[in-house]
Amino acid sequence: MNELIKLDNVTAGYDNGIVLRDVSLTVYDRDFIGVIGPNGGGKTTLIKLILGLIKPLSGTIQRFDNQEGSFIGYLPQQSQIDRKFPITVQDIVLSGLMSAGKGLSRYTSKDKKQAFDLLGQMGIGHLAKRTAGELSGGQLQRVFICRALISSPKLLILDEPNTFVDNRFEHEMYELLQQFNQKMAIMIISHDVGTISYFVKTIACVNTYLHYHPSNIITEEQLAGYNCPLQIITHGDVPHTVLQKHDHSHDHDHDHNLTHPEDHKHE
Ligand SMILES: Nc1ncnc2c1ncn2[C@@H]1O[C@H](COP(=O)(O)OP(=O)(O)OP(=O)(O)O)[C@@H](O)[C@H]1O
Ligand SMILES: [Mg+2]
Repeated sequence: MNELIKLDNVTAGYDNGIVLRDVSLTVYDRDFIGVIGPNGGGKTTLIKLILGLIKPLSGTIQRFDNQEGSFIGYLPQQSQIDRKFPITVQDIVLSGLMSAGKGLSRYTSKDKKQAFDLLGQMGIGHLAKRTAGELSGGQLQRVFICRALISSPKLLILDEPNTFVDNRFEHEMYELLQQFNQKMAIMIISHDVGTISYFVKTIACVNTYLHYHPSNIITEEQLAGYNCPLQIITHGDVPHTVLQKHDHSHDHDHDHNLTHPEDHKHE
């Protein structure tokens, strides 16, 4: 397993205060991490740190980018997206190649085919020539997922990709992501703990502090201590993974921190 991103004891925030404290997290090349936590807990801030959009106040962030190909593909949280793009769906997807060094005029027919194929995989190939303003919220969300994917990044970061999308596509999307995970690491932010715990490999709870669960199982107790209005969904006949116990002996300190975030400050 190769390291892609390594945060060590990172504290970060904005002019109005600290948002994340003492966060350590390493992302490896085949990770599939579900990032959960309450509104305002600091999830999007964590992503901005990883992207280098904001700098830590203390601690370090290392990016192990070997320069070959695209490093990070990113789907911003919907509230942060300007929906009035005057360009076509296909061009929005292709714009995801800009971070990989291509300008608007330099897309090849291969790039265009790839954009079209991705849109097809997301079930919206027929919308390729429309403009963003002519799409529904869920359709546009799928377009932006294609945009994040087109450069075949080493790390795909999706900030609440299930916003606006219907249940059926949500499941299809997670299954597609599992396929993409053969080739890239994925971090996915979601409030839908029940569903993502079924698809991801590990879970990071972010609520000022980051608590990393090295499995996709979180106990009911932990969720209660987390004091977070999380939506729990059962998966038909599949046992409810969220309610199982798991061994925390190797990250006991953080466990404590999850249940009583305030206590941590006095340690
Ligand atoms: N640009 C900014 N300037 C000042 N404060 C900010 C800024 N962005 C976020 N914050 C504050 O930082 C805190 C964490 O915000 P963040 O967006 O990281 O939360 P989040 O976990 O992504 O929440 P949500 O689930 O609502 O998306 C919030 O209290 C928010 O008000
Ligand atoms: Mg957010």
